[in-house]
Parts: sequence; C-alpha cells; structure tokens
Amino acid sequence: MTDVKLRNLEKVYDGASEPSVKNLSLDINAGELVALLGPSGCGKTTTLKMVGGLHDVTSGEVLFNGVRVNDIRPEKREAVMVYQNYLLFPYMTIEDNIGFGLKMRHVDKKEIKKRVGEMLSLVRLEGFETRKPAQLSGGQKQRIALARALIIRPKILLLDEPLSNLDAHLRDEMREMILKIHKSFGVTTIFVTHDQEEAVLLADRIALMFNGELHQYGSPQEFYEKPVSKKVAAFFGNENFLAGVKTGATVKTEIGDFDVEKSDVPDGKVTIVIRPESIVLGDTGHNSFQAPINRRIYMGTYTRYDVRVGGNAWNVIGDPNYTEEYDEGRNASFSLPKEKIWILEE
Ligand SMILES: Nc1ncnc2c1ncn2[C@@H]1O[C@H](COP(=O)(O)OP(=O)(O)OP(=O)(O)O)[C@@H](O)[C@H]1O
Ligand SMILES: [Mg+2]
Repeated sequence: MTDVKLRNLEKVYDGASEPSVKNLSLDINAGELVALLGPSGCGKTTTLKMVGGLHDVTSGEVLFNGVRVNDIRPEKREAVMVYQNYLLFPYMTIEDNIGFGLKMRHVDKKEIKKRVGEMLSLVRLEGFETRKPAQLSGGQKQRIALARALIIRPKILLLDEPLSNLDAHLRDEMREMILKIHKSFGVTTIFVTHDQEEAVLLADRIALMFNGELHQYGSPQEFYEKPVSKKVAAFFGNENFLAGVKTGATVKTEIGDFDVEKSDVPDGKVTIVIRPESIVLGDTGHNSFQAPINRRIYMGTYTRYDVRVGGNAWNVIGDPNYTEEYDEGRNASFSLPKEKIWILEE
C-alpha cells in the first residue's frame, strides 16, 4: 500500500505566463480513493500527470510513501495512468494490448497469457482476446484500458475522466467496476472528474480545484454541509445565500434575525448558507420568515420552489404533495432549523 503526498506542487508550462497548478499540497492515504474535481482547465490533468511522471514538476515535490519521486521516470514509478481517450494500440489484439506492460517488463509468455485471462475476467470481457480495439464499444475500450493498467499491479492508479465518454448506463456499470477494483486491489486511486455528482458517488475524499489552486479537501459530506466558500457551495449546487451581521449566536439579516449555533466564525459580516433540502416549509415558530414563490416545479419525488429571499434567488426542496399555500406567486412561510445553517465569514 502506498500513500501519496504532494508538497507545494507547481507547474508552469513552457511559454506560459501563469502557472497551471499553484502551490498544491495534498495528502492521499494508502488505499484511498480521491477525486480531483474542478471545472475545465483548472489543472486536474496537469496534476495527475505530475503524479504519474508524465509531466515535469516546475517546483514542489511528489512523494510516494515519503520518498521523493520527482526525478523517477514514469515506467519506474508505481503509478499508472488511464487516459480519457483510452489510447489503446489500434493494430494490436486485445490480448496484446493488455499484456503490453508485462511484455515490456520481460515477463514470460505463459505468465502473460495467464494474467491477461485474469484481467479479462475482472473486467468481464472473457473471450475478447483476439479482437482489435476498433471492434469494441466505448465502454469496452475503457475496461480494456483499465485492465492494461492494472495488469502490472500498480500501487497507484491514476484515472483521467474515466467515465466521461460513456453513456449514463455504461457509466453506472463502469463506476461499480472502479469501486470493485479499488476495493479488491487496495490500490491508491486518484481520479479526475469535472462532475461533482460522480466525485460524491465514488470518492472517499474530494479535492476541489479552481484555476490551478486547491480550494477544499474533504469528505463528500463536508462539501455539502461545510463548504469553505460561496464558490465551493455553488459548485455543489447550493446558492442559498443570505448576507448578515453576526453577533454571538444571532445573525441579523434584511429579512429578520436568525439564531445560529455557536461557531468559530468571528462576529461581523457573514453569509448564511443552507441546503435546499434543509429548509422547512411552514412556520415552526423558530427562524421563520415569509417569502414569495416565483416558481414551483414538480419533480416527481419532490417539488422544487424558486423563492425570493431578500435580494437572493433560493431553491427550496419540499414534499411533492400539492398544497395551495405554496402555489406560484404566493407569499409563503419557511423556517431554517438552526443546526442546518452554515455560516461563512465575509
Ligand atoms: N501542454 C500544455 N502546454 C501549455 N499549457 C497547457 C498544456 N496543457 C495544459 N495547459 C494549460 O494548463 C491549464 C490546465 O490544463 P489541464 O489540462 O490540467 O486542465 P483540466 O482541469 O484537466 O481541464 P479539462 O477538464 O478540460 O480536461 C489550462 O489552462 C491549459 O490550457
Ligand atoms: Mg483534463
């Protein structure tokens, strides 16, 4: 089992004026599954390639089990990368594609054949040995790429958007396969995605990057319940913000005063954040207020309300059952349970 530490990692591409990755420090435990999450161009692939040794590091360190690997060539590292576009060798059979890494390592033919067979059964593609990559579907190619990476028994698996080229159904299947492989191999896994839902479904911990910088690192739950900034909250689909001034356990806002739990956030200007599903429809007599409903959208298992709270557009998720009081255009009552309110320092 291998842990990965990134220390003040920086990447400036030749001729670039700005670093693509800035001062990135991250600790990944042995056997952990970590998602590198962020919008397009934020530096996810660049980071992954520095871990795999496919890009030089401009400054900072990559450590595997405490050993600096900056100057170790990719094929000598214990990390292997699987690319978004598979990069299978088109003229080789599936068997030769998967066995390639072992052939390069001069493993004998019989052993290669045996291990290719094991890998094909792992990714549930037995019998595909003699096909060529062009004769496979996207999902099958992705599974072959995974088998090819795993056959060398890497300690660290690097996956660059492994699910983005697949349709919804295949994505579910592939996600299950990644979880299964991760579990049975105990391989430390870093996977890149720009999809927060995918990160939440797969990862033990998520590292969220914007513009080359790490903004938050923690469990999926922490991103929902304790975002470090409005930007992080918004990336996780929550823009229920309300500005206020905090004094002790009270926040004064334009729509009234709210009781909040004790927190480390100093008194002064703050922003209240609350998840759409944590807001209570109705007047509980505590932290309640009236607000106009702009839109009411029936979603089957729940109903979404677009509500104007002070100057802000909020989303509220409620029971799907129709109640007249919560019709579009009505001024309705809502309450904020104090233990569900998260406050951010301005
Ligand atoms: N080889 C390169 N030379 C110069 N600039 C590069 C190179 N590769 C990437 N960049 C730049 O570095 C930044 C980060 O790119 P990177 O590919 O790491 O982003 P990403 O987060 O993986 O994005 P995406 O989700 O679109 O794949 C971008 O601004 C990109 O234009
Ligand atoms: Mg990328």
